[in-house]
Amino acid sequence: MTSPIRHPRRVRKLTDCHNVDDFRLLAHRRLPYPVFHYIDGAGDDEITKARNASAYDDCDLVPNVLAGVEEIDTSVEIMGRKSALPLILSPTALQRLFHWQGERAVAKVAERHNLWFGISSLSSISIEEIGANYAGPKMLQYYYHKDSGLNTALVERAKAANFDAITLTVDTIVSGKRERCLHSGFTTPPRITPASFLSYATKPSWALNFLFRERFSLPNLETHVSEGSNESISIQDYFNSMLDTSLDWDKAEKLRSDWGGTFCLKGIMSVADAKRAADIGCDAIMVSNHGGRQLDGSRSPFDQLEEIVDAVGDRIEVICDGGVRRGTHALKALSVGAKAASGGRLYLYALAAAGEEGVERAVTILKEEIERGMRLMGATTISDLSRDNLRWR
Ligand code: FNR
Ligand code: LAC
Repeated sequence: MTSPIRHPRRVRKLTDCHNVDDFRLLAHRRLPYPVFHYIDGAGDDEITKARNASAYDDCDLVPNVLAGVEEIDTSVEIMGRKSALPLILSPTALQRLFHWQGERAVAKVAERHNLWFGISSLSSISIEEIGANYAGPKMLQYYYHKDSGLNTALVERAKAANFDAITLTVDTIVSGKRERCLHSGFTTPPRITPASFLSYATKPSWALNFLFRERFSLPNLETHVSEGSNESISIQDYFNSMLDTSLDWDKAEKLRSDWGGTFCLKGIMSVADAKRAADIGCDAIMVSNHGGRQLDGSRSPFDQLEEIVDAVGDRIEVICDGGVRRGTHALKALSVGAKAASGGRLYLYALAAAGEEGVERAVTILKEEIERGMRLMGATTISDLSRDNLRWR
């Protein structure tokens, strides 16, 4: 029998962070609890969120050795643009609430590393500013609103700002039940209530940045709706009152054709829907359950990946989104046949913990994990990865 020895893990500052979970601990120290739990939380019992990550532990990598791995190439082409790594920074909302640098920090790091990233329809920096300042591959994540004027404006703005793709999210037809947010009262912009006052007061650095820097708003939406920018609303209420529950395949196809550029559906889980996405001319799908924030009990993207790749992998690019916490998770998704792995929290905890410096460190760690993993696997290019090097337990 071996006696348990506690691993010395103390995460107080950025240089203490060596993996995604370390950034999570640092974000927890630095954020008011309603904000932290908005990022970290998910739907209902959060079973899907947990499975999204643990699914990667149900299969093992089988390395080849003596492969001469001095020079390796981690790059891939995703939706017509070269990416230095098979990794996408998924679109996530409200980033200036997590750190005052918000989307600007994420865009800078993505550009520096030549990675795809997305801004949300609910981003806290405008489509125009991102388009004007960041040359790297970028997508606008599209929420299909009841307000058709807003829908048209989002397409026009993405065209004018030269976005590389529109990604329509299809798993938020109604909101998931985010119980941590129900308990904390999280809204955008945050409403400081007697119950949450202390949590903001005890994180003065966050509170001062929020109060004294650029006013928080959702610039892609505020031209049409005041909720989210000038009127506080929970994300649950935003989805349920603003998004169009009549969204269907015809409307998705029309949006694709109005946009006319590279088009991706985010939140596809079934083979039938994946085939339909290919039929309406989508360029890519993100196999995703929204990081477990929507339908709890939904299967994880990695568990579902194989059958989707087998059904449509020759017609459409398949991206595996969610639960990625390690470079080896990305390598497992690629071995099954995904074009890329994608994630939100893998960079969001780091953004919340330390802004641009945090995101830079998180992406560098993931890059090193991917490179190390490839060398240890005996893979010199991404195309060397295949199901031959995976075994299921
Ligand atoms: C998200 N996600 C998301 N997706 C989307 O289509 N539009 C959005 O505005 C947001 N906003 C958002 C905020 C926060 C705080 C999180 C954590 C996630 C989902 C995101 O794009 C992605 O699908 C998940 O983050 C994937 O799961 P992981 O990587 O976080 O495990
Ligand atoms: C979320 C959004 C806004 O998951 O998509 O909170």
